[in-house]
Amino acid sequence: MSGQSIYPVSPELAQKSLLTNDQYLSDYKLSIEDPEKFWGDKGKILDWIKPYSKVKNSSYAPGNVDIKWFEDGELNVSVNCIDRHLATKGDQVALLWEGDTPDQDAKITYNQLYTQVCQFANALKEQGIKKGDVVCLYMPMTPEAAVAMLACTRIGAVHSIVFGGFSPDAIAGRIIDSKSKLVITADEGRRGGRTVPLKGNVDEALLRDGTDCVESVIVFKNTGGDVAWFEDRDLDWAEVTQSQPTECEPVAMNAEDPLFILYTSGSTGTPKGVLHTTGGYLVYAAMTFKYVFDYQEGDIYWCTADVGWITGHSYLVYGPLANGATTLLFEGVPTYPTTSRMSEVVDKHNVTLLYTAPTAIRALMAKGNEAIAGTSRSTLRVLGSVGEPINPEAWQWYYDKIGDKRCPIVDTWWQTETGGILITPLPGATDLKPGSATRPFFGVQPALVDNEGNILEGAIEGNLVMLDSWPGQMRTLYGNHERFEQTYFSTFDNMYFTGDGARRDEDGYYWITGRVDDVLNVSGHRMGTAEIESALVSHPKVAEAAVVGVPHEIKGQGIYAYVTLNAGEYPSPELYAEVKQWVRKEIGAIATPDILHWAEGLPKTRSGKIMRRILRKIATGESDQLGDTSTLADPSVVDKLIKENQEIA
Ligand code: WTA
Repeated sequence: MSGQSIYPVSPELAQKSLLTNDQYLSDYKLSIEDPEKFWGDKGKILDWIKPYSKVKNSSYAPGNVDIKWFEDGELNVSVNCIDRHLATKGDQVALLWEGDTPDQDAKITYNQLYTQVCQFANALKEQGIKKGDVVCLYMPMTPEAAVAMLACTRIGAVHSIVFGGFSPDAIAGRIIDSKSKLVITADEGRRGGRTVPLKGNVDEALLRDGTDCVESVIVFKNTGGDVAWFEDRDLDWAEVTQSQPTECEPVAMNAEDPLFILYTSGSTGTPKGVLHTTGGYLVYAAMTFKYVFDYQEGDIYWCTADVGWITGHSYLVYGPLANGATTLLFEGVPTYPTTSRMSEVVDKHNVTLLYTAPTAIRALMAKGNEAIAGTSRSTLRVLGSVGEPINPEAWQWYYDKIGDKRCPIVDTWWQTETGGILITPLPGATDLKPGSATRPFFGVQPALVDNEGNILEGAIEGNLVMLDSWPGQMRTLYGNHERFEQTYFSTFDNMYFTGDGARRDEDGYYWITGRVDDVLNVSGHRMGTAEIESALVSHPKVAEAAVVGVPHEIKGQGIYAYVTLNAGEYPSPELYAEVKQWVRKEIGAIATPDILHWAEGLPKTRSGKIMRRILRKIATGESDQLGDTSTLADPSVVDKLIKENQEIA
């Protein structure tokens, strides 16, 4: 990864694109030197009910972190994503839907979306939902997911989306923490020929203590599958919606009113409710969507992320719709029913901008030319990647095969917390290096620091931090501002700490090296090791557990769990399967350990702290690089683990 191969922007591409390199450089300079002027201007990408007079007001000061953008402005998100496009684009398709199998699809125009959102917003109002109430969504990838999100924004309700792959316990935890008043779900979802029991999972979640904040559940009948029905609680989406008026007055929201909560994993404790607010978030999502994908009229845009992740919020729904784009929602998976499904969908809908994840690319790459067989993909113009570092081999395959060596790849680095893309190439401006996320977006000031927080200059590796705020930045952790400051601003004073490491090369390009904390990235999904460990130890036969990440060819990282059983319990193939299944049930399929290592003991310091550094090295077979082991309470534990690991491998 020396950064040798470079893919320069061709003069034709620069000419056809929204921004050239010179424009990027001069706008970037302005955005850093005079953020007030830059963002004051760019905030006009939205329609404001009451224009803002203040632009930026942010402080990273220890103990007093406070972030506000456009703070006296008022706007409504659904108006920006729908109403303002109606005069010119009412009959243009807003949402393209492609189902799990190719015979299922739908087109929803901006006019139709307007009506559906207004009617559903009125249905929410009828259920007593008002500005500031939290609504939990547990939805399949159907247009109704977007309709529900936008309907919340129309009336000022705060949505909290839970990924459809999470377990009843995970749903319950999020409902309780956010005090959700209503849940919106579907009978079932579809994925790769299987059904997902969404309603069943919600029913189970609502049996948990503390979930009685939920007053009703609106159920979209997606598959028509059999589900339990509780008359005093459950409502049929179609029934509560159909007779509603087709107009709904949008609520004027302050720029700093909450827009949504989205839970994400950290290195410690339970998932954190990242809170994004209305004005800055939407300005940033709209701006980044436009320039990172070089969005132009007529583009058909497809982001393969699920609405349950931040990518689904910012770049499936809000960014594209704020720009009046056509955005495709796909309920299925890239390799079903055929290996070339992803490419087939591109051809079927004439997709021009494609945004997907390295794990999907690697899964396709493993199938070779079968993944593109019989397809032309000739409409594609820009390719995007997100979720984890893209290895140069996968980059090359994406570029050569999916994009036919014609399309620039934007490797976009960002986080749930950042709201939108922070480090990325711009198609007509940035020469590409496979594996590098390249340069900061406008207004973004990355820096690399050593472990003491000293800023490092030049070509070097370090901890990735941000020196100042950008409009899309999270404002707090829902209900816990102290944890917010502690998690992101206490490692290094006056800086936002990303939790990632990065290298900067001689051209000033950033190469993300991955998490430097105890967070795993499995198929682009963030998983805290602490969460998986607590699921493991909740199994009645498990005494102790430690989880580390190991390289995995398709998933990027796999989950390797050291498990110590209670005295009197012994390993068996049945218990192996049972413990894996247990974690799956506790959190969801994405958290299922790939490898269980039955360990009689774990390496600990004399004060009883598990030495993860050593466990990581043992798991990856690098036991010759254990480093300093002099603080171990019992060194013989390590030798035993090394031997066992060799047997596992
Ligand atoms: C990782 C997803 C390298 C990173 C938008 C970050 C990446 C975490 C990239 C956030 C990329 C995301 N290159 N690493 N292009 N994109 N990451 O919150 O470790 O689900 O901290 O947001 O994913 O994951 P999250």
